[in-house]
Amino acid sequence: MAMVAECIESTWISSAGKYITAFEQRFAEFTGSKHAIACSNGTTALHLALVGMGLKEGDEVLVPALTYIATANAVRYCGAKPIFVDCDPLTLSMSPDSLESKVSSKCKGIIAVHLFGHPADMDALNQIALTRGLWVVEDAAQAHGSRYKERSVGSLADCATFSFYGNKIITTGEGGMITCDSDELAARLRLYRGQGMDPCRRYWHLVVGFNYRMTNIVAAIGLAQMERVGVALEARQKVAANYNRLLETATDRLQLPQVAPWAHHVYWMYVVFIKGISADRRDAVVEYMDHHGIETRPVFYPANAMPPYLDQAGGVPVSTRLSESGICLPTHEKLSEEDQVWIAQILCEAIERCSQ
Ligand SMILES: Cc1ncc(COP(=O)(O)O)c(C=O)c1O
Repeated sequence: MAMVAECIESTWISSAGKYITAFEQRFAEFTGSKHAIACSNGTTALHLALVGMGLKEGDEVLVPALTYIATANAVRYCGAKPIFVDCDPLTLSMSPDSLESKVSSKCKGIIAVHLFGHPADMDALNQIALTRGLWVVEDAAQAHGSRYKERSVGSLADCATFSFYGNKIITTGEGGMITCDSDELAARLRLYRGQGMDPCRRYWHLVVGFNYRMTNIVAAIGLAQMERVGVALEARQKVAANYNRLLETATDRLQLPQVAPWAHHVYWMYVVFIKGISADRRDAVVEYMDHHGIETRPVFYPANAMPPYLDQAGGVPVSTRLSESGICLPTHEKLSEEDQVWIAQILCEAIERCSQ
């Protein structure tokens, strides 16, 4: 509150002011990256990152089918085509095995999404990118603090993007960030973020840029959030451990979240999959829980099952199965153990009653 009040009192409320630089520096440190570039949200961060990578009309980019729609849409904003790749049943992120066959001569890059807070298999993806001459962007919107082989997401590819939307691990209401190590890329991203204005000559515009800037007020909230990011991450570990214990006896019907040996999962969402269930029966489970005052969410639809991307429908069997059988359980810092006991009980009851 104090930092936000200071913005207002000092009248530095727009996209200049000390908190933007301070938040960027703090976030760069947090991810182990050289640069961080604050944006208005995670979608504009992704679009900007793709512009920064030089993505053009007619190009192709490999994206996971199982992700939030913004990943694919950002590719379309550049006039390029997202090519959908199936996911790995363990990490739920893009499957390196499914990737190879989708690389064409038009393909310029890969967007690796760290879905639900579990990192993608970055060494495998980066290796394919290296041999095929592709760039890699991490979409880490859901994975602040997640680690791959002890290295933080955000530092594992050419650049990475984050979201600070209200339901994220740390939030500024709306907000986003790009992290990268390249000085040249960081300068380009800053140029495009601020209407393409020459940093040395006011109102002289070098390229057709965007207004994707973060405000000083939002950055003040972000900086304050960074002071408690450790607490936020620890709370989610506790929530996940409680669910693991409470649902241990239901694993004949439920697939609990799996964690690869090289991964540190931050559980943006604790997601379970009901074994052998159809999509409509899963929806009945969601409805049953809703009637008991428990809000759950089905897992994302594969992006290529939805109208804008139907030209590539099908061909992602793992994503389809996980989408139809998955439920995101309530996962937030303030969730009490008592509530979790109730959620686990109602979930098991719902599966018993609704899954036939
Ligand atoms: C994987 C992924 N990418 C991108 C975004 C877009 O972020 P924002 O909502 O901040 O625009 C989200 C948001 O949830 C997301 O989950």
